[in-house]
Amino acid sequence: MSGSVTVHLTVNGVEHELEVEPRRLLVHALRDDLGLTGTHVGCDTSNCGACTVHLNGDAVKSCTILAVQAEGSAVTTIEGLGGEGNLHPLQEAFWNDHGLQCGYCTPGMIMASAALLAENAHPSEAEVRHALDGNLCRCTGYHNIVKAVLSAAEAGAGAPVAS
Ligand code: FES
Ligand code: FES
Repeated sequence: MSGSVTVHLTVNGVEHELEVEPRRLLVHALRDDLGLTGTHVGCDTSNCGACTVHLNGDAVKSCTILAVQAEGSAVTTIEGLGGEGNLHPLQEAFWNDHGLQCGYCTPGMIMASAALLAENAHPSEAEVRHALDGNLCRCTGYHNIVKAVLSAAEAGAGAPVAS
């Protein structure tokens, strides 16, 4: 690809070398180059949080970062947190507590929550609401989402996430 740059990323524990345009956003590299479509794009204003992933352990909005800025980084997406038959406690809790309807915001909500619980294994309700204030849900309201995060914390979801 003319004018492309080589980027090295470890995504969900797997090393990748990508050729990307310098302007390519991390979210598009994850979704379109690596096929990790669990990370969603819900806005073009950087305010919905549907694209939240972990970059070297920190929750970030992957639509606000260029792929080249992530050079050498470890990225965890929702696919790296857990999957069918092996759900992360947060995924179980969202399921059990009806923390989703359409599910579009859910990967971002869960990744933001996982970063919170990795730092603070037993947050208060106010701390959960504060941690999720960059994530928008357009359908369920936030009550069951917050309830799910608190249940997951009680179930011990605060163990560090591998990246
Ligand atoms: S797609 Fe990244 S904040 Fe909305
Ligand atoms: S469950 Fe539909 S946007 Fe949150």
